[in-house]
Amino acid sequence: MKKFFAVVLICSAVGAIAAPVPAKYQASCSACHSSGAAGAPKTHDVAAWQPRLEKGMPALILSVKNGLGAMPPTGLCAGCTDEEYTAMITFMAAPAD
Ligand code: HEC
Repeated sequence: MKKFFAVVLICSAVGAIAAPVPAKYQASCSACHSSGAAGAPKTHDVAAWQPRLEKGMPALILSVKNGLGAMPPTGLCAGCTDEEYTAMITFMAAPAD
């Protein structure tokens, strides 16, 4: 079921249709990624995310789990699953409406 939800999110983000903001994104990632604090690629800044996405989703999920630069391990979402990380990253990398 979680997987299905993530797939729906990804599909709508790729189609640039208003994707619902994952609640856990608001509680964790958004603290840095909404403002670009500490050099974080900003949410909906497609150009900033492009070189990151080129690493591939598995590598990006690993970066979050292990931490990268100023980003703490798990990105402050200790209970997040890979599917949730995928949905959050896809959301952040998609253009705003
Ligand atoms: C405390 C601030 C902070 C929080 C919270 C945070 N990030 Fe980040 N994130 C950063 C910074 C800073 C970078 C850039 C790191 C660098 O390249 O040195 C980054 C980079 C990334 C990248 C790119 C990694 C790569 O390999 O290029 C991804 C993906 C990412 N964040 C996802 C997330 C997700 C998903 C969450 C929420 C679960 C999250 N971040 C929460 C600060 C944060």
